[in-house]
Amino acid sequence: MCGIVCYVGKRPAAPLLLDGLKRLEYRGYDSAGLAVQGDKGTRCIKSVGKIEELQAKLNNEELPGQIGIAHTRWATHGKVTEENAHPQTDDNGRIFVIHNGIIENYQSLKEELAGEGHKFKSQTDTEVLPHLIEREMSKNGNSLRDAVRKALRKVDGTFGMCILSSDHPGQVIVARRGSPIVIGVGSDEYFAASDVSALRRYTDQVIYLEDNEMAVLTLEGFEMSTFQNERVARSAETVEWEPDAAEKQGYPHFMLKEIFEQPETLKNALRGRLVPGEGVPKLGGLVPVWEKLMVCRHLIIVSCGTSYFAGLVGRYVFEELTDMLVEVELASEFRYRSLNFRPDTAVLAISQSGETADTLAALREARRKGATLLGMVNVVGSTIARETDAGIYIHAGPEIGVASTKVFTAQLALLTCMALLIGRHQRLPVTYGIELIKALEDLPAKVARVLRRADRIEAAAQKFHKYDNFLFLGRRYLFPIALEGALKLKEISYIHAEGYAAGEMKHGPIALIDENFPTVALVPRIASYDKMVSNLQEVKTRNGPVIAVATEGDDAIHELADEIITIPESHELLTPILATVSLQLFAYYCAGYRGCEIDKPRNLAKSVTVE
Ligand code: AGP
Repeated sequence: MCGIVCYVGKRPAAPLLLDGLKRLEYRGYDSAGLAVQGDKGTRCIKSVGKIEELQAKLNNEELPGQIGIAHTRWATHGKVTEENAHPQTDDNGRIFVIHNGIIENYQSLKEELAGEGHKFKSQTDTEVLPHLIEREMSKNGNSLRDAVRKALRKVDGTFGMCILSSDHPGQVIVARRGSPIVIGVGSDEYFAASDVSALRRYTDQVIYLEDNEMAVLTLEGFEMSTFQNERVARSAETVEWEPDAAEKQGYPHFMLKEIFEQPETLKNALRGRLVPGEGVPKLGGLVPVWEKLMVCRHLIIVSCGTSYFAGLVGRYVFEELTDMLVEVELASEFRYRSLNFRPDTAVLAISQSGETADTLAALREARRKGATLLGMVNVVGSTIARETDAGIYIHAGPEIGVASTKVFTAQLALLTCMALLIGRHQRLPVTYGIELIKALEDLPAKVARVLRRADRIEAAAQKFHKYDNFLFLGRRYLFPIALEGALKLKEISYIHAEGYAAGEMKHGPIALIDENFPTVALVPRIASYDKMVSNLQEVKTRNGPVIAVATEGDDAIHELADEIITIPESHELLTPILATVSLQLFAYYCAGYRGCEIDKPRNLAKSVTVE
């Protein structure tokens, strides 16, 4: 959602800040702003709309200075206006704050401060922060660092923030509770950002702030401490991905690049994790809880959106391979369920970003109930990664397109590994393990084969993109893939699409079928094939157009489908991955033909950090 970038060094700050903001564009935003400090003071510029508009304003202004903070805002409190964009300032315009997260008690703080004579110019929750800091400095004579620390004690809610003061030049303060801040360590220069991709071009050395920690960045270095004023010492980590991983590398969109990267991301996700001879995967991240996991018979998966659909596929896989009882819960609904937390319960949070507010809230609720917490996340060092007892990193590299693609297929592969690992310790014979591991090893090449047919999928999209409604049908492992296919189409092409378990069709949706309502049917030659064929016959009888995702060489399906997208034969448990890739491409090309902004669909944010 919102994005934060900060620079302290010897180079002109403004171009670096703008470059950082551009790299965070994918997170979604509606306005932007920055403040740069030079010899003649601090200048702040804000604008509504795209970063180009901020840049155009900057080009008309002198903005010298080697220290600065910059922000992209995704409106929560207050409309999309310049006044509401960040930085927000105090009455005198001397303290500049950029903030991600939500200050929950801002109303009462605002009333208190207004009663003392503070004047507010915006409708944001953020604006109370510079006023609180100013009050601590003017009333109580605190240094900027102490004023920030004391001000933050009054605040409820979540924040990742940067603070710059005209009266304390040469330093930026960053602080975190619940919303990520990473410090980038360069040579004689320091960065801070809400996301590594903003600073990866300049350094691969990073330190993640933990909750309730802050840092003061100056040209001489940085000092970290807790809000209780205890010193924090933590060494920098090396970012494992190269800067060009977050570039388009010649593709027209990040989404297409990420779809085409899947043979590689699957290899990376599985690298070093398959032990073919023993028919068992190796997942070192689970070692800390292995003993508990071995006696655990109840797994609750919590996640949102596409990650939730990964969990739904995971349920079928776990139930097939292990003795565990698996429930999959939308993280946003988790708190309303009165689930049975037996002592042998583990909760697995699945998340690309590792920062999704609903998933985090569900995890914290599960922690209160005493469950063992596991994470499957892509972003290293993210909050979910740090708040879980153990977990599995997805290792799919940065995913920039708002529509999740490569991370989803890697999640499916890793859920299969996790289930196989547990299943092999419970009841699966070695021969089964060897067979599935072989299928996992072959998977990247099969995905590459689906990608080689992109032109056929594009042709189907060209033919069908003008329809306004679609039905996606699948059974068993492929039911969640029908949901995911429909979500992808909705997200980026704004076509209305419904995903259904095919068996449910005659319980309602069949009423919609006519010549204007195409059905995308997931009908590869697996156990559910015959039943799916019957469903397609029902659609055809009602003149519904059919796009079938079918196994290569399945000639029988020609009679029932208007378009056929083929996928290679594979282990049944891995069919969802191959089917997904074809649906990602279908959604991508439909969106392209409809002229949509594919990487930044309207109203969506990459990482949803509000509940
Ligand atoms: C996926 O295409 C979506 N943009 C969205 O549903 C996403 O999967 C969801 O917000 C969960 O995000 P997470 O995986 O980062 O937790």
